[in-house]
Amino acid sequence: MKPLSRQYLIKNSHLLVTPALVVFPEIIEMNIKQMVKMSSDPLKLRPHVKTYKMAEVVKLQLNHGIKKFKAATFAESEMVAEAGAQDILLAYHIVGPNIKRAVNFVKKYPDVNFMVIADHIESISELNNAMVKAGETIEVLLDIDTGLHRTGVEPGDQAFNLYKEIDNSPGIKAGGFHIYDGHLHQSDRKDRAVAVHQAFQKVSLLRDKLLSAGSKVPRLVCGGTATFPIYAEMNDSFVEYSPGTCIFHDIGYDTMFPDLHFTPAAVILTRVISLPGQGLVTLDLGCKAVASDPLMTNRVFFPQLPDAELVLQNEEHLVIKTTQASKLKPSNELVGIPWHICPTTALNKEVGVVQNNYVKEFWKVVARDRVLNI
Ligand SMILES: Cc1ncc(COP(=O)(O)O)c(C=O)c1O
Repeated sequence: MKPLSRQYLIKNSHLLVTPALVVFPEIIEMNIKQMVKMSSDPLKLRPHVKTYKMAEVVKLQLNHGIKKFKAATFAESEMVAEAGAQDILLAYHIVGPNIKRAVNFVKKYPDVNFMVIADHIESISELNNAMVKAGETIEVLLDIDTGLHRTGVEPGDQAFNLYKEIDNSPGIKAGGFHIYDGHLHQSDRKDRAVAVHQAFQKVSLLRDKLLSAGSKVPRLVCGGTATFPIYAEMNDSFVEYSPGTCIFHDIGYDTMFPDLHFTPAAVILTRVISLPGQGLVTLDLGCKAVASDPLMTNRVFFPQLPDAELVLQNEEHLVIKTTQASKLKPSNELVGIPWHICPTTALNKEVGVVQNNYVKEFWKVVARDRVLNI
């Protein structure tokens, strides 16, 4: 077995019921500092909170001068507001009961600049009607699709008309564009940069057209971990960057994007529960403890057993094959770095917080619930 790097040693690991997600605030802060350095200015950042969903991590970022946040749910937005941030973009499409929740949010947090996104005339109109009825207003960013094809409209005539519709609605205010380009996963930074610049040209033209037609485009919220350094180099004063993963980072992004210098700050402590023979080791690390959206072979990496192959994962079991199996016994502990951290965090009610190699406290993953109070 390879020795575990000092930064992930947990000397009082007996306190942890496994599988346990643990976080290292020193590494989180290193990642925050790196993100700020790459952005030149913390006020250019609007990091996504979906990766960690914990108020303590929002507060660490506030301490580093970051004031704007992006969220994917009302629960995340509420958690951010309660942590003391006053500028929140809920980058999600508001439909059904969420229309009333948007009204309630604006009423409950009058000091927060709370914004949402939209891409359809129906949702724009419903949100506008609800806000007018409540005597409130809300900023709405037009969701632009530059190729992910998940939500949004292409930067073109339809986008121009929708933006004008937002601009002309009394209950909502045009807040700019939202652009998430999670499809740009080129490992080579140069290839990624070419793709970002190509897509941004059309966005830029749309912005120019709207500005000429008298609209304001106060912000363009762009990118994730892989692309924000490229937006940062553009030096466009209206562009904000919205990485999420890099705050905790994971082995997936570490493998895919060698140009990014972040360090995994959240790992899973797991214990051997069985040794079924033939080089096999069974751990208490099922798919209820680590995100199962990556391929079965790639869900977690064990730095102490770099040759480990993941051969079977069920809800509470992970079977690995390793040349080191004969050296392991039940109860032995291993550290695993998740391939995809964001859904992994959401599988946990709380995380162990390790400082100076000791678990010192536990932080609640508050916003893993869909509904808090609103
Ligand atoms: C809308 C949106 N913005 C930003 C991000 C953050 O991207 P990343 O996780 O690559 O940092 C995500 C991630 O899924 C997202 O969905």
